[in-house]
Amino acid sequence: MLIDIPGQPTLSALLKEEKPEPSLRHFHAPANWINDPNGFIYYNGLYHMFYQYFPYGKRWGTMHWGHAISKDMLSWQHLPIALHPSIHEDRNGCFSGSAVEKDGKMHLFYTGVHYQTINPQNVHTCLNEDFISSQLHISSKDGFTFHNFEDKEVYLPTGDGTMYDKRHTRDPKVWKEGDAWYMVVGSTIEDQQGKLLFLTSKDLHHWSLLNTYTSGNPELGWMWECPDLLQVDGKRILIFSPMGYLFEEGCDPNQAICVPVSFDPQTGKMEMLEEPVFFDQGLELYAPQSTVDENGRPVIFAWLRQPETDDPWIGQYCYPRSIYYEDGSIRFRPHENVMKAFRNRADWNGFDYSVPFMAKLKLGEGQEADLGGLKIRYIDGVLSTDRSELLNERGLAVGAQARLNDPEAELILFGDQHIFELFANDGKQVISQFIDSWKQEEPAVPTELYV
Ligand code: FRU
Repeated sequence: MLIDIPGQPTLSALLKEEKPEPSLRHFHAPANWINDPNGFIYYNGLYHMFYQYFPYGKRWGTMHWGHAISKDMLSWQHLPIALHPSIHEDRNGCFSGSAVEKDGKMHLFYTGVHYQTINPQNVHTCLNEDFISSQLHISSKDGFTFHNFEDKEVYLPTGDGTMYDKRHTRDPKVWKEGDAWYMVVGSTIEDQQGKLLFLTSKDLHHWSLLNTYTSGNPELGWMWECPDLLQVDGKRILIFSPMGYLFEEGCDPNQAICVPVSFDPQTGKMEMLEEPVFFDQGLELYAPQSTVDENGRPVIFAWLRQPETDDPWIGQYCYPRSIYYEDGSIRFRPHENVMKAFRNRADWNGFDYSVPFMAKLKLGEGQEADLGGLKIRYIDGVLSTDRSELLNERGLAVGAQARLNDPEAELILFGDQHIFELFANDGKQVISQFIDSWKQEEPAVPTELYV
């Protein structure tokens, strides 16, 4: 059975239409809770997005993998849940992971969690952190059929704690290089320092440990979630989400960061080559995951952690982002499908800000813009945003900052009902954050509007 969402294309329409009309709403579940993007892959002519999903409410709980498909990464058809707890190892959740294709089949890798102690008040959460993790694999002949009861394989059982942590080891990300498969998994050293495991395989079923990495710097967080090692413009970039990284009021201590690294596929030895930087300066996007798009370029989605609203769903993803390494730094730009989708010039007069929009503007040094109540300033080379007029009382940080050091800030802002994404100077910096609602006002500085 397929679930048709009003305003979204149906599967049959998606399969038939060459280019469906893009839907510009940011990705979210039909209802209830989502967090990390999982198993993101371009497979048999469609993008598949799986996602951490709690189907019973607007809160985190026993994790399933929700599933949606798209031709353009903008219009999504939601499909039935792909993975759900079914065996001893994943009875309390199918945590994050990734997808690859081999011999026409889709292979999913994820972490199964098993609570040792049941929480009598809420069976969907763990009591006293008393849980164990295992790494699991399931394949699908077509990307639509998942035999949860028959096909799950445990390829990395719960550790004994010496090689890797038996609780906090999770989020396998798999890729291919030459004729070998590689996997990076996030972990911890005794809940004090983040650690990565690198594994290798010839057949996707048998995996052996190649190497491990730790920075030796406890300031880089105590556990590293959702590692993703990708190749961009001749560089390898590690994107990961350390827990306990940032201690600032109104911000989550867990933050997604990225850093150029060296990696030797023979030995699995990795080194960081620079200081890590934030994935997004809004400090609300988390657990990014990349895949390679139909043109062979890496593309990334990330989860916007957001408070509850009146919507039936909670949690949404940024628009697909392309990543580049240029002039010695990592840059993120909206994927070309996003830029193509906002093709109609519109008029601010009477514009309803709850419709997804793209705005283009420039700020010189010392200038400020007000867009639907979002204040954007460019002062002393620092770009900053202030969403205080767009938030209910929530205890969230109202501002965010990013350094540009250019005479002018050329800005592209994407706005939707509950999110803005602000790209500055060709992807040098991006600030994305949650908002409750926009103010219906025309901008004071000249700004081009597209819908
Ligand atoms: C990151 C994360 C992952 C884990 C998943 C559980 O947000 O904590 O490390 O696999 O979410 O939902």
